[in-house]
Amino acid sequence: MKGVLVTKNLVSGKMKLSQIELVEEIRRLKKEKNAIILAHHYQRLEVQKIADFLGDSLQLAQEATRVENDIILFCGVRFMAETAKLLNPQAKVLLSNDKSGCPLADKINKEQLINFKAQYPGAKVICYVNSSLETKSESDICCTSSNAVKIVESFEPTEKLLFVPDKNLGTFAKNITARDIVVWQGYCNVHECFISIEDVKKAKHDFPDYKILIHPECNPTIYPFADLISSTKGIIDFAEKNDKVIIGTEIGVYDQLKDRFPDKKIELLSKNAICRNMKLTSLEDVYYSLKEEKNPIEIDNEMAVKALRCIENMLAVN
Ligand code: 13P
Ligand code: SF4
Repeated sequence: MKGVLVTKNLVSGKMKLSQIELVEEIRRLKKEKNAIILAHHYQRLEVQKIADFLGDSLQLAQEATRVENDIILFCGVRFMAETAKLLNPQAKVLLSNDKSGCPLADKINKEQLINFKAQYPGAKVICYVNSSLETKSESDICCTSSNAVKIVESFEPTEKLLFVPDKNLGTFAKNITARDIVVWQGYCNVHECFISIEDVKKAKHDFPDYKILIHPECNPTIYPFADLISSTKGIIDFAEKNDKVIIGTEIGVYDQLKDRFPDKKIELLSKNAICRNMKLTSLEDVYYSLKEEKNPIEIDNEMAVKALRCIENMLAVN
């Protein structure tokens, strides 16, 4: 490594690089290996900044279909990297931090889904993309938080629908479309437990002329207080065009907006809305994952065919 001061970490035996050195090395490795970095808006700010493409779940999936690089280095949670691998099987897809799962995705397993379906013969299953490969393989179509309503509306109005695993996104889509949907009772801890009606009431009191922007994974009791209910992309788009906004989703969105628009009046609905899994990925993880081509996503063929069908059905609607 030219002109870079390194010290050896005696515990791991790895070189300890400064942030600037890590960024330099990641850039060099990206070129050398023909790699691209895709990252979600909930990543740590320094990781968002090293990304070639930053997006919400739908944008990241769409981008994965377009990428021609040999390596996709994914900074997000496992289901997002799996989706990228399904959509771009030729690329080596690396998950920067192997431990970053999505607890919501684990709120239903294959057996539970099979039993759920058995209670409603003939019903079609919509699964939130925040789900396991097994759940996807047992579902008819996927959706993300930005297209859930559109996906529901792609079915005949008379069709019985099951929505898994997020009860809040399912209820959001059900309320808007007034369709016959049975919703599985899973939820995201971050949005359900750490963004409360008390937070909303306090924000309304402290910042009466601000707009409240929330993610549909929040509990429906706070929907009536929101000026916008949208995916991370929808929230960011709105905040780009407006001043005086309150961000009701994971803190990474707020961090990004404050960094991009230091003079705007932007507040956070709850400082406790932190996704520990999204925050696991450090710049060091990005560096070592790329350097050693660590944590490749591998999906067996049979599972890949079944799970991909569900994602492709979604992309055909969107
Ligand atoms: P988006 O679809 O807005 O990217 O959200 C993904 C997610 O994990 C929300 O918690
Ligand atoms: Fe999963 Fe919630 Fe984290 Fe999103 S914020 S990745 S739904 S745990």
